Amino acid sequence: MKLLRWTTAACLLGAAGLAHAAGQPDPNLARNLAATCANCHGTNGHAVPGSGSEALAGTDKDKLLQKLRDFRSGAKPATIMHQISKGYTEAQLELVAAYFAAQK
Ligand code: HEC
Repeated sequence: MKLLRWTTAACLLGAAGLAHAAGQPDPNLARNLAATCANCHGTNGHAVPGSGSEALAGTDKDKLLQKLRDFRSGAKPATIMHQISKGYTEAQLELVAAYFAAQK
């Protein structure tokens, strides 16, 4: 099941990447990128109560972006986010941060 979820996430990413490469703006890009965070942070950043995961929904965009940058640079110690954040470009992280900030 876990593998299936990761595969789905990878497919979404791949599809988003393809649309991008073809030069077509994908209106769902931010949502698709944010979906790759759902396994751990909950659907649309709404953490499952009691899961111990951080809720991202409604968090200030700049704060989110700063945390992601700090994970990527190693300034913020992490068990996994330092690896995940390195998998995205600055532009993708901005999209994801804006998407979660806009979630109620
Ligand atoms: C495999 C599980 C997993 C996935 C997938 C994941 N995260 Fe995380 N996230 C964590 C864990 C665990 C932490 C706590 C820091 C650590 O130990 O890495 C965390 C912490 C964070 C924090 C800091 C929260 C805070 O307030 O301190 C942010 C922001 C964040 N993640 C954003 C994201 C974004 C954006 C994505 C998708 C691109 C994502 N995460 C995908 C597990 C995950």
